[in-house]
Amino acid sequence: MIRLSPSLLSLDFYRAKEEIEKIRPYAPYLHFDVMDGHFVPNLALGECIVKSLRAHLNEVFDVHLMVEKPEDFIVPFAKAGADILTFHAEATEDAGALIDAIHALGKKAGISIKPNTPVEAILPYLDRVDLVLVMTVEPGFGGQALLESCLAKIPVLREEINKTGREIDLEADGGIKCDNVRKLTSLGADLIVAGSAIFAAADPALAAKTLLQNAKGEH
Ligand code: DX5
Ligand code: ZN
Repeated sequence: MIRLSPSLLSLDFYRAKEEIEKIRPYAPYLHFDVMDGHFVPNLALGECIVKSLRAHLNEVFDVHLMVEKPEDFIVPFAKAGADILTFHAEATEDAGALIDAIHALGKKAGISIKPNTPVEAILPYLDRVDLVLVMTVEPGFGGQALLESCLAKIPVLREEINKTGREIDLEADGGIKCDNVRKLTSLGADLIVAGSAIFAAADPALAAKTLLQNAKGEH
């Protein structure tokens, strides 16, 4: 099933409630970008944001940890209400231990790779992760253009995921718009992150609806 995970990095937080309500019919997940100013040169979304939205929303909270020490952040974000905790393969020497620690908290575990990291960094963990996140921009900022060089990773991961027979979301994140989303889903991505394409649009509901239709190849 193809689903949207709108990135709240591009949300106007003053208008958070009305903007989120507009896109809820199209998006069973919400994507929270957590940035520490070290792993990426930007700061974003702390656990207080997750906690305050969790009190009102029952969507799947998809937390993307772009931080240097993900092991220090899994407990606070789990407590705040995350459902999925995704860390970067580049940020840990022991991805297996981190996956186990996330599962021990009763949460789903995701692993992500930056544009220059090969899929081999993920393959050894397909027997235990719940989500794989392929970055299609350099992490750190919303509103960047998708890097075509990242696309070849998606069919490789799709094939390897299918071989496992396990349920693993194959998420793509960065630079995804109405006019390129089909490329990603036709290669095998089934969870689509979009920030600026939704929240910077004049009509976020229409943008989310069109993105989802295009993602599914419906016109
Ligand atoms: C980038 C973040 C993305 C970002 C996507 O580091 O991981 O989730 O918000 O934003 P857009 O869709 O605008 O590229
Ligand atoms: Zn993200």
